[in-house]
Amino acid sequence: MKGVIFNVLEEVVTQQFSQDVWESLVDKAAVDGAYTSLGNYADEDLVCLVASAAEVLGKTPGEILRWFGQSAMPLLAARYPSLFESHRSSRDFILSVNKIIHPEVRKLYAGASCPFFHFKPSKAGSMMMAYESPRKLCMLAQGFIEGAARHYHDDVDVHHRECMHKGDEKCLLEIKWAA
Ligand code: HEM
Repeated sequence: MKGVIFNVLEEVVTQQFSQDVWESLVDKAAVDGAYTSLGNYADEDLVCLVASAAEVLGKTPGEILRWFGQSAMPLLAARYPSLFESHRSSRDFILSVNKIIHPEVRKLYAGASCPFFHFKPSKAGSMMMAYESPRKLCMLAQGFIEGAARHYHDDVDVHHRECMHKGDEKCLLEIKWAA
């Protein structure tokens, strides 16, 4: 996992809680805690930090990942405004993840292992998004989607129709926009 993800997690925790809380999570997770944006770090570090945050904040690891994804979007929008300005809605933005967003991320952070999503439009105002990754970070994906919706002032509902955490081969997220 690229260091930038850990940098954004630290920023989110520090903004919403404090530097002391971030340091206690690092201690509890028994990770190094010094991440440079271009560095590559064990996925396990993220798992441990999320587990520590869940314990300290009284949430499940899934809730922490979702909150992290939601809170990360405004920070990503400030760091990479061009990725956001070129789209008029959260739907367009989300649909650009495979072709524009993650390819740009791979250019900026060589060796980034970003997931590929399969999209299928379904009923009007909704779409299905399939996610498969050995990291099983579907709740982070949900948080990113919800954070993107908030950025564009859209209302979305995300439902996990299938989930790798429940033994399914892939996660299938249904994204519904309010009329
Ligand atoms: C709705 C839009 C997005 C979704 C659903 C999404 C989803 C994800 C997920 C689930 C991962 C975890 C890796 C994995 O599952 O294997 C990931 C990784 C990542 N994403 Fe995205 N993402 C989105 C937008 C963005 C944006 C806007 C940025 C930054 C400008 C970004 C930057 C990254 C980076 C840096 C990684 C880490 C790659 C690595 O560590 O190797 N993503 N993304």
